[in-house]
Amino acid sequence: MDLESYSTLECIVVVLLIMAPAYLANTIAVLTGGRYPIDQGKMYSDGNRILGDGKTWSGLIGGTIGGMIVGYGLYFVGDQLFWGANNLTATLIFFLLSFGALFGDMTASFYKRRQNLQRGDKFAILDMYDFIFMSLLLCFIFQRDWLLSWILDGWVPLFTILVLTPFLHRGVNIIGYKIGVKNEPW
Ligand code: CTP
Ligand code: MG
Repeated sequence: MDLESYSTLECIVVVLLIMAPAYLANTIAVLTGGRYPIDQGKMYSDGNRILGDGKTWSGLIGGTIGGMIVGYGLYFVGDQLFWGANNLTATLIFFLLSFGALFGDMTASFYKRRQNLQRGDKFAILDMYDFIFMSLLLCFIFQRDWLLSWILDGWVPLFTILVLTPFLHRGVNIIGYKIGVKNEPW
């Protein structure tokens, strides 16, 4: 990936497209989720649920597959520009981005339950960054060359991810709340 040939605005759009599977995995999980809690209703030693009813297999699997489908859609429309040279690499990247987002979200829920926060309670910073952090971490571990080929290319990628994404995330959640698919606007 070479972002240098793009204007700042184009660069922001490219970064949003690259990260789209991660962003949308959570949104899709809200739609497919709600069935088969991953912790099977079990409690942790502190007496709270391990993860809670907000983390289900139907959300995890639906969101991962959904995020990957979004990736494939963009991959074929977008001329395979952003996700590496071949289909196999791209598939792995889509998986890392979308599964990573949900895994991050799940890790955050585990932490929230340990803080005595109930399902859906607000935890501002964590709710905004959990999914990005784990997506990028998985990419860093398993697709480091690809990640480093664009994320440090000027200031725009990190700015887009760290500063713009939380607003976008919030915006999508507010829409989800207004149209009735999400219980809280965060
Ligand atoms: N969801 C799901 N499985 C997942 C992720 C999300 O079923 N792995 C669904 C749940 O119905 C959840 C909704 O998407 O209620 C919104 O997700 P999120 O805001 O992450 O969950 P919360 O209900 O807020 O729960 P928590 O406090 O654990 O974040
Ligand atoms: Mg929540």
